[in-house]
Amino acid sequence: MTIEQSDTRPGGNELGASTVQVRRVGDRQTTAQRLLRSTADRAYHPELDIDWDRPLAPDKGWVMEHRQSLYGTKVWDELTPEQRTELGKHEAVSVLSFGLLAEVGLSMNLMRSILENHVMVDDHCRYALAEVGEETRHSTMFSRLVNKSGVAPYTYPRPFLKALRLVGFLPIGPSSYAGTLLIEEVLDRLQREGAADETVQPHFRQLMKIHVLEEARHITYAREEMVRSMAKHGKAYNAVHRGIFSVMVLSVMPTLINPKVYKSVGISRLRGLIASQASPEYRDRAVFMTEPLLRFCYEAGFIRGAVSSRIMRASRALPDDIIAELKGQKPSTVQE
Ligand SMILES: [Fe+2]
Ligand SMILES: [Fe+2]
Repeated sequence: MTIEQSDTRPGGNELGASTVQVRRVGDRQTTAQRLLRSTADRAYHPELDIDWDRPLAPDKGWVMEHRQSLYGTKVWDELTPEQRTELGKHEAVSVLSFGLLAEVGLSMNLMRSILENHVMVDDHCRYALAEVGEETRHSTMFSRLVNKSGVAPYTYPRPFLKALRLVGFLPIGPSSYAGTLLIEEVLDRLQREGAADETVQPHFRQLMKIHVLEEARHITYAREEMVRSMAKHGKAYNAVHRGIFSVMVLSVMPTLINPKVYKSVGISRLRGLIASQASPEYRDRAVFMTEPLLRFCYEAGFIRGAVSSRIMRASRALPDDIIAELKGQKPSTVQE
């Protein structure tokens, strides 16, 4: 199937990329077999499936206006159309730079899970290896598009990158899979919408289509593993992982957009950061990006408990009905 024949539209699937339901998580080898078949049937190669020799379209943008971080603010009103497009390009490069780093981190976690599996010759391991292959190709295409944009990549401080190595010492548990899903599903939501928008650069739209189509499998894999991991561990262990995940949700939006992007249109980092955080559109964007995942996590019993629920609410990403249920102490539907 070609990319053009595939349906990546936002409305194509109301739930987002995956229809995995908490109660329907089945045998992990059976799921892996299905995902391996799909990988063999529908895989793309960004070196060939994106026309990198084609020049950028001068009349196209990078990020839809309503998804840009300053949209709806007074600072936004002061920007010219050209400045808005320029800022959109920098925001796209910031997200791609984050994505590149995140894909490498996700691959490291997958490799660790393979190492920790004593068998190493089953379909579950084979699918994890296939997914690493896809993630490395994704990083390659992200880096190519950053180069194509002409904008320097947004980098992270060296001590932060060194500290990331410590993550390798943490045991893999529910928050590892939930954190993976947070990256994959947030990008999925943004990319389904962007891929369908004809005002966006063709290279970027093609990249988003490829990523959405291949990530659907990764999301199925991680959702099921998250539920299995929760079932394997006790209440206290899961509570710690819920807390870690709530901090991840709190930090995902500020991490995606590096405040240095505002300098591209003459706005100081601090002014841009404050304006974006105070934007009346912030909550809408946060809910849009995370809703399918957070509904899944809530159904799985992974959003509960006084401390982690409070941190999660501070992210402004929880839908109203879940907040109401959490406040009313209404029991959620699931298991620990
Ligand atoms: Fe990916
Ligand atoms: Fe992925």
